Amino acid sequence: MSTPGKKSVGIVGARGHTGAELIRLIARHPQLELVFVSSRELDGQRVAEHNSDYRGELRYEALDAEAVAAKRADVVVLALPNAKAEPYVAAIDAAKSDGYDPIIVDISADYRFDRTWYYGLPELTRDQYRGQHWISNPGCYATAMQLAITPLKDLLAAPPACFGVSGYSGAGTTPSDKNDPEKLRDNLMPYALVNHTHEREVTRHLGIPVEFMPHVAAHFRGITMTVNLWLTQPMTLDAIKARYVQKYKHEPLIDVIDEAPWVSHIANRHGVQIGGFTLAPGGKRVVVVATLDNLLKGAATQAMQNINLALGYPELESIPHE
Ligand SMILES: NC(=O)c1ccc[n+]([C@@H]2O[C@H](COP(=O)([O-])OP(=O)(O)OC[C@H]3O[C@@H](n4cnc5c(N)ncnc54)[C@H](OP(=O)(O)O)[C@@H]3O)[C@@H](O)[C@H]2O)c1
Repeated sequence: MSTPGKKSVGIVGARGHTGAELIRLIARHPQLELVFVSSRELDGQRVAEHNSDYRGELRYEALDAEAVAAKRADVVVLALPNAKAEPYVAAIDAAKSDGYDPIIVDISADYRFDRTWYYGLPELTRDQYRGQHWISNPGCYATAMQLAITPLKDLLAAPPACFGVSGYSGAGTTPSDKNDPEKLRDNLMPYALVNHTHEREVTRHLGIPVEFMPHVAAHFRGITMTVNLWLTQPMTLDAIKARYVQKYKHEPLIDVIDEAPWVSHIANRHGVQIGGFTLAPGGKRVVVVATLDNLLKGAATQAMQNINLALGYPELESIPHE
């Protein structure tokens, strides 16, 4: 049960990097109360011992899908690895009754290609929100690509080529080469150079083909996305920049800047920086750089925006922004 007047939220997969950021955001939200957090590994341990922003008494619990559904939280966030969400969605769906119809936000890739789920990249899709209760949160690289490409989408002569570099928190907590600081030291690791899930995700949601080449680097958090765009007609740099300013001037989480953004400046921040606009001779090829924190605007912050939208709260409630 939650405090009267507050909506209850549960996180499945709360030990992970993105789950931890969500705990922080929910802890500072005046209208939300965290009522369960699941983890098999941390079962029984106090959340406050692992998360300095959380001050309550809640403990992690190992919960299967039926136990999650039985909690009857108003909002359930699924922060699990890919391909694990389905049993939880099925159990929550089966538990719907007497007006119980919770919001589910899945931050994995499992429902990003499912038309029955709302795809929540608020700055680009909030006008398509029709009160859906099942919300698929976009991928981190996919968010950076879509925000960097959209202002020029109608002028493209060829698929955008996107060179992405992520900090190793993007690879989650299950040990692998991609999150091994020793293997990444003095190194840059290319992987999945064609047909990455986020390449297909952006192609589907922008409705144009994109080419995406991901890399993982030795820093912990933050993505740099450098995008090469061929235009159908020559443009001036001022006209190009004006399109980005026009598109995002009312978006508090998106900063359009002149200089090329640095990933170290966006780490631990909730927004996106887009800049570094550089035009090749002839005016038909432009390079644009976007940076964001993969754990925040690439995951938890975006989930918080989606929860606020679904519950009718101000979209940026609990999200620090200038
Ligand atoms: N990291 C990012 O930058 C980022 C950005 C956007 C989206 N995402 C997506 O968000 C999801 C979570 O990512 P993350 O980086 O937070 O992952 P993570 O750090 O690896 O955490 C995964 C969580 O899932 C739990 N878990 C793992 N296997 C499970 C299973 N079979 N059944 C139940 N629980 C299981 C883990 O806890 P226990 O093992 O203790 O149960 C842990 O809490 C992924 O789908 C990822 O693709 C990640």
